[in-house]
Amino acid sequence: MKVEMRDICKSFGKAAVLDGVSLSVQAGEIHALLGENGAGKSTLMNILGGVIQADSGCIAVDGKEVKFFSPVDSLHTGIAFIHQELNLINDLAIYENMFIGRELKKKNGFLDSKAMIEKTKQTFDRIGISLDPCLPVRSLDASYKQIVEISRAMMMNASCIIMDEPTTSLTEPEIRRVFSLMRDLSAQGVGIIFISHKLGEVLDICSSYTVLRDGKVVASGKTQDVTNAELAFYMVGHKIADGGSKKACVRGKEMLRVEGYGDHKYFNDISFSAHASEVLGITGLLGDGRSELFLSIFKAGLPADGKLFIAGKEATFSSTSDAVQKGVAYLPRNRKENAIVKDMTILENASLASLAKYRKLCFIDRKRERRDFENHARNLHIKMESGDDLITNLSGGNQQKVVLSKWLNTEPKVLVLDNPTQGVDVGAKEEIYEIIEKLAASGVAVIVLSSEAQEIVRVCDRAIVMFHGSVVGEVSGTDMNEHMIMRLATGEKIERGASV
Ligand SMILES: Nc1ncnc2c1ncn2[C@@H]1O[C@H](COP(=O)(O)OP(=O)(O)OP(=O)(O)O)[C@@H](O)[C@H]1O
Ligand SMILES: [Mg+2]
Repeated sequence: MKVEMRDICKSFGKAAVLDGVSLSVQAGEIHALLGENGAGKSTLMNILGGVIQADSGCIAVDGKEVKFFSPVDSLHTGIAFIHQELNLINDLAIYENMFIGRELKKKNGFLDSKAMIEKTKQTFDRIGISLDPCLPVRSLDASYKQIVEISRAMMMNASCIIMDEPTTSLTEPEIRRVFSLMRDLSAQGVGIIFISHKLGEVLDICSSYTVLRDGKVVASGKTQDVTNAELAFYMVGHKIADGGSKKACVRGKEMLRVEGYGDHKYFNDISFSAHASEVLGITGLLGDGRSELFLSIFKAGLPADGKLFIAGKEATFSSTSDAVQKGVAYLPRNRKENAIVKDMTILENASLASLAKYRKLCFIDRKRERRDFENHARNLHIKMESGDDLITNLSGGNQQKVVLSKWLNTEPKVLVLDNPTQGVDVGAKEEIYEIIEKLAASGVAVIVLSSEAQEIVRVCDRAIVMFHGSVVGEVSGTDMNEHMIMRLATGEKIERGASV
């Protein structure tokens, strides 16, 4: 099946988001759709997926013009859309989610759960995933939720699959699994449109690309003819400084110490300390337990044993807002589920964690609130019309920046960031790294949780590597390179002082 979008234009109010965009995908082609945060990628795919309609332009399937008035129209034509923000219902089982709106029924009209479970199992087998279809979706972590979404599209036998940033919350082994699945599909003639900010993986998996900038196509072609640096250049319109080498930090006094933390399930006997003026990385692969550890510390996860010290004094947090009061801010992973309030405006979301700062007797100092937010928005280059718009009007990466500004605004002494560059574009990533470095230079102890070794090496002064819930090593100085981190993260025992 060949899908073509021709000369698509779309505005929201006065803002033109797409301006004459054309894109086509052949059967079996894996086509990368690239661009900065807010360039218009999701909007274009929302049009192809029938979620919204274009103001002008047309869509043709195998040369014939088609009109999509709803996602169902698009799906019936053979186009499945895996959205940037996951769309599963937590309270339902996996198999129920797989069949939402298309439930299988018995002759008597009752739901045929057995058949739905069986069909889900078959799809998982085809993809090589061992997951119990009857588990509630709530019990899955984000990466498995992603895999369920991909399986759902597979099960619908789509001829064209749109994947809007499917890999942002996945770790290396899972990404490899998803990629091998994509290669199989492409060999079976399925066309795929793949959106990602990770240019390395784009060159790895895609055969062709289209780059959008400010709603226009600025480059397109075959990936074999282009380099990572060229793609980045097309996206942002200028060369990206490659961070350079890290300056050695002058470590200040201990700000946060964790001693013997364990929940008897995801992590055991974890001890480490974070100091003022340093960026401490905590890394590992899926199942390393780092996110669970911090959820427990901030009382948002399972209860755990262990002690916590802030600036040398034993402390506990009763919630994330209690932690903020004590000078410790925490940005959890998975923006949509844990970090944004969808019904609130951008400004409301950004100042949610620091309202105490603006309280004057029984008033809120709205002027100061707005001024602080505008400063952060400028520093983080948040692309928006007005702070009074709903946060859901922003592109995915810009929502992530608002969440970051929310925690920066609490002016913490210790800042914990889980997966801070999730979904942000190459240029903005570097800006976020610079902000982290500046914060550390101003005396903040920053802890960055990430499974991207490259990110850890770029931004951290020192990193702790976890494997299956335990700390297996600490790297700093010349030891802190991607190779060493990967060896530790995969459970290899490395003697101290051994050559890498
Ligand atoms: N419903 C809406 N109302 C108003 N503006 C919107 C709406 N949806 C998107 N926009 C705006 O359109 C622009 C493009 O957004 P889009 O989500 O397509 O970006 P994107 O390329 O997918 O970015 P990202 O990489 O951050 O996901 C953004 O500036 C966004 O704020
Ligand atoms: Mg998007």
